[in-house]
Amino acid sequence: MPSTGTAIHLVTDDVLDELLHPYRHQIFYLGHVYGSKPKLPLWFKHFASGPDGAGEAYHLGIFGKTGSGKSVLAKMLLLAYARYRKMALLVIDPQGEFARDMKRHGTSGEFAVAVGDVARSLGKQSVVLTVRNLVLDRWELFEQILFESSFFERLTVPKGENRELACGILADKLQKAHVALKDLHARASFDRGWQVLQDDKTQRVFYRTDASRARFNDALHDADPNEFFNQY
Ligand SMILES: Nc1ncnc2c1ncn2[C@@H]1O[C@H](COP(=O)(O)OP(=O)(O)O)[C@@H](O)[C@H]1O
Ligand SMILES: [Mg+2]
Repeated sequence: MPSTGTAIHLVTDDVLDELLHPYRHQIFYLGHVYGSKPKLPLWFKHFASGPDGAGEAYHLGIFGKTGSGKSVLAKMLLLAYARYRKMALLVIDPQGEFARDMKRHGTSGEFAVAVGDVARSLGKQSVVLTVRNLVLDRWELFEQILFESSFFERLTVPKGENRELACGILADKLQKAHVALKDLHARASFDRGWQVLQDDKTQRVFYRTDASRARFNDALHDADPNEFFNQY
C-alpha cells in the first residue's frame, strides 16, 4: 500500500509512452489493459540473444472455450513474432483458417486479422502445404497412420493386435509389389492394397480362425472401394 499523501497519477497512454520511450521499437500491443483504457505494453522478444532477443525459446498456451478469441489472439501473436526477420513461423492448421488468412486480402471472422497481408508487408514469404503435399518417408509411418485411421474400423477390425498385424502385412506386400511411398496416394496403389487384402494368405496373417476371416471377407465384399479410397 502507498502511504497516505503519496501523489498518484492516472496511467494513460501518454504516461506509458513517455515511460517506455526507450523501448518503443520493442513493444507490441495485443489490446487494452483489462477493464481499462490504456493499451497494454507487451514484449515479444525473438528467441536468439541480442538486444531484442530473449536468449531462449518461449512456450505459450492459449486456453478458452470456443468463440472466446483464441484464434484471433494466436494470429496477433504470430504477427508479433513475424516482425523479426530471422524468425520463421510454422502453423499446423487442421481447420485451414490460418491458410485462408494467408491469402491476399484473406481474413476470416468478425475481428479480422489480415495475417497474410501484414506478414508479407514484413517481408515474410508464405507457403501453404496441404496434407496432399506430404510424402511419408518411412513405411512405419504408413502403418501407424493406417492403424489410427478408420480404414480397418470400417472393415470390422477393431483397434488391437489384429489390426496391427493387418497394417504390417499390407505395408509389406505393397513394398514387395514395388509401390513407392510417394505414390501411396494414387488410386493404383490403393487398388493394389485392396487386392492384397482379398488374398487368403494375407488374411491368415491377421486372422487365424476361419470364422474371423469369414466375417472380414463379408465386410470386405460389402465395402465400396470408391468410398474407401475417397474417405478413409
Ligand atoms: N479481441 C476481439 N475483439 C472483437 N472480436 C473478437 C476478438 N477476438 C475474437 N473476436 C471475434 O470473436 C469470434 C471468435 O473468435 P475466435 O478467435 O475464432 O475464437 P476461438 O478460436 O477461441 O474459437 C470471431 O468472430 C472473432 O473475429
Ligand atoms: Mg479457433
